[in-house]
Amino acid sequence: MSIVVTAASGQLGRLTVEALLARGVPAAGIIATSRDVTTIKDFADRGVDVRRADFAEPDTLPAAFAGADRLLLISTTTPSERVANHRRAIDAAVAAGVQLVAFTSMLRADTSTTILARTHHATEAYLCERLPSVMLRNGWYLENYTAQLPQVLQSGVLAGAAGPGRISAATRADYADAAAVVLTTDGHAGTTYELGGDHAFTLTELAAAISAASGKRIEYTDLPVDAFARLLTGVGVPAALADVLADADRAMSRDELYTDSGDLRRLIGRPTTTPAEAIAAALQV
Ligand SMILES: NC(=O)c1ccc[n+]([C@@H]2O[C@H](COP(=O)([O-])OP(=O)(O)OC[C@H]3O[C@@H](n4cnc5c(N)ncnc54)[C@H](OP(=O)(O)O)[C@@H]3O)[C@@H](O)[C@H]2O)c1
Repeated sequence: MSIVVTAASGQLGRLTVEALLARGVPAAGIIATSRDVTTIKDFADRGVDVRRADFAEPDTLPAAFAGADRLLLISTTTPSERVANHRRAIDAAVAAGVQLVAFTSMLRADTSTTILARTHHATEAYLCERLPSVMLRNGWYLENYTAQLPQVLQSGVLAGAAGPGRISAATRADYADAAAVVLTTDGHAGTTYELGGDHAFTLTELAAAISAASGKRIEYTDLPVDAFARLLTGVGVPAALADVLADADRAMSRDELYTDSGDLRRLIGRPTTTPAEAIAAALQV
């Protein structure tokens, strides 16, 4: 069996290739794609079949997906280009005779009010009409917070607009492991998984967890959505992305990034990474 992982150069894609290898998939049975194959040369050196694929250049896709049985479609980065990119990838998967596509969607993509969910839900609709598919509706990454730790520790402030909303975040490695399970075991076609961490938290609770781990007092400051977007642009986040992130926090305040489905824990066969574990790991780096 041959399994394609798109965006294998990205953080989630890399971890998914590693999870497939750890689960015993032979390197030659994995096709890893990127727009620039030099970024995944390390996988080629380990025997993974590395191919170029750019969803914006559909001519690159037939060769990239040739011979594949299953494919993980990792959502691309630019929201405004996402649906067109994903449609081209799905069309190419159909043409290549791929038998199962798993798509990294977003938690509650069908009911979420976020800007982000629109592109994910549109992709889900297009995909499930064309191929046997699995929706991996990933929740928020814990790394979205642990990546901010240096600034948070320096300022003593964790800022957001999520109010008392609960967030079921997990690590990219947890989501990658779930993708590897779905790609290597049977019985997932037609299933939508709502994937989130076992240990939901509010941002006030997260600030307390950072305080406990670091020994430095961290306060959560809850801002109006537009003020949070301005704060993000003020620290260099591009305006369009800042709006999307602030909008996600708005939705978090309504528990839209919360799930108690247990799907992630069941798929990976272990509890998900706790916020305390993720913070401790990030502080050691
Ligand atoms: N759940 C969350 O909290 C969260 C947070 C951020 C993002 N996301 C979503 O999850 C995805 C994966 O996350 P990540 O952390 O792995 O992101 P990442 O490290 O930024 O990787 C993004 C990947 O998208 C690929 N890509 C971009 N444009 C492409 C195109 N036109 N054709 C093919 N591939 C393209 C890039 O591949 P090359 O540049 O090598 O071609 C790269 O590997 C993101 O793209 C985004 O949709 C989720």
